[in-house]
Amino acid sequence: MRVAVTVNGERLETDVWAGESLLTTLRDGLGLPGSKNACEQGECGSCSVLLDGELVCSCLVLAAQADGHEVVTVEGLGASDRLHSVQEAFAETGAVQCGFCTPGFVVATADLLHRVPNPTDDEIREALSGNLCRCTGYQKILDAVHVAAGR
Ligand code: FES
Ligand code: FES
Repeated sequence: MRVAVTVNGERLETDVWAGESLLTTLRDGLGLPGSKNACEQGECGSCSVLLDGELVCSCLVLAAQADGHEVVTVEGLGASDRLHSVQEAFAETGAVQCGFCTPGFVVATADLLHRVPNPTDDEIREALSGNLCRCTGYQKILDAVHVAAGR
């Protein structure tokens, strides 16, 4: 089947199979590898995107469900010549660690700061609770969120 999705402001069309996830379509069909596939079952948040402005795990959304809707991926947060303030803050504070979980953290943080411009530590932990880091720690990520919130 053919789907048309507005991704990062651009209307894109591609063929998908009925059971294909939005994550697979973004990565393999549309050439947007920023969203990562780490569990494919909604556990890790590495595939986080905004679907019509709502944070979702793109591995749990069918591509067919996104037909006619708007998606923003980590590639679409900044401009081609300028990082998004959250991306800048993650880079500056050393919160970009393995790079695998980072895109999901960045998208979830941008979503949080859009809703709650100056979150507390507890609000950050709650908002990012669906995003897992498997190898290091969360302190630099907390630092990055506070830096981004200050901008
Ligand atoms: S790959 Fe989607 S939540 Fe882990
Ligand atoms: S820094 Fe990405 S999984 Fe640990």
